[in-house]
Amino acid sequence: MRRNLVRVLDGETLSPPPIWLMRQAGRYLPEYLETRAHAGSFLQLCYNPELATEVTLQPIRRFGFDAAILFSDILVIPDALKRNVRFNEGHGPVMDPIDEDSIKALDAENVFAHLSPVLQTVEKLRTKLPAPTALLGFCGAPWTVATYMVAGRATPDQAPARLFAYRYPKAFEHLLLLLADVSAEYLVAQLDAGADAVQIFDSWAGVLGEPEFEAYAVKPVARMIEFIRSRRPSAKIIAFPKGAGCLLKDYRRKTGAHAIGLDWTVPLDLACELQKDGPIQGNLDPMRLAAGGNTLDEGVDAILQRLGNGPLIFNLGHGIIPQVAPENVRRLIDRVRNRPES
Ligand code: CP3
Repeated sequence: MRRNLVRVLDGETLSPPPIWLMRQAGRYLPEYLETRAHAGSFLQLCYNPELATEVTLQPIRRFGFDAAILFSDILVIPDALKRNVRFNEGHGPVMDPIDEDSIKALDAENVFAHLSPVLQTVEKLRTKLPAPTALLGFCGAPWTVATYMVAGRATPDQAPARLFAYRYPKAFEHLLLLLADVSAEYLVAQLDAGADAVQIFDSWAGVLGEPEFEAYAVKPVARMIEFIRSRRPSAKIIAFPKGAGCLLKDYRRKTGAHAIGLDWTVPLDLACELQKDGPIQGNLDPMRLAAGGNTLDEGVDAILQRLGNGPLIFNLGHGIIPQVAPENVRRLIDRVRNRPES
């Protein structure tokens, strides 16, 4: 069966466009909070195939999105690399900050044994999802994952990783290459387990200057995509370089991604230009979803008007925030699927 999301990734224009939302499983849903309370910690939830399958399915049951995204986190990779990742309530993720010596000592040996519960979740999901619903796998881009590994915590601008990269370029390059290779293999495993497509999240691409964007955001993602294509030529890949701005222009050609995820700051004129070269995904401001009402409707309509006549996957420009009322998500989906004639 050719699922709608895959048809758009192949270049088709669908009206209405398929829709899914980043962070569609999460704290804005009471049923998520309940399952998470049973799981113990957030990471225990990620590594429990039964419960991770359940929370992936929750937004599908409630809203009937066109795609489910595997419930996991980009930081399972550093966790599998033994960086002691923890998610502390209210403080975001923390891990042991990495230095030059610990980069040399990184050992990718047992990464796949560690991640096997996540791959079991993918297999389970494919048997439980409705047939028309696409399944998306994902991982973090090397740069974004490295920023957390260097700082050991969330920061507003990833200054620690930017500084580290200038001071220790060789070690940093080694870290990015290792992450690219492990992550590419991980995505191939997700595709083999039943994912229809995969998304590479480069959430912190936007803090890089132009040469650094080329070296740290473009090159490692291009390397990953080349590896994935060499193993699985038909693999469908979405890349989301958040905050890339005008550097988005050459990103698809340079990385080889099928579809480009756009954040909400990308002007619709630029989005239109990018859509001439292939499918795009995005880019409603998550705060419009939180605000609801006419603010939400106007944002949806503007995107559909400008981008609805080309290959589009409707999404937010970043993840749903926990304060969102579930009825706003219902309203968004209804608006995308049954937009009043204008
Ligand atoms: O989109 C989905 O519904 C799938 C699941 C998913 C999660 N994280 C679950 C999660 C995905 C695709 C991610 C990706 C992720 N994780 C990114 C890239 C996308 C982005 O948001 O920029 C990043 C940078 C992370 C790292 C991360 N995980 C941070 C910084 C935090 C803390 C901030 C926060 O929102 O809580 C997390 C925790 C996290 N990942 C939660 C969820 C549902 C909240 C944990 C909880 O239940 O308390």
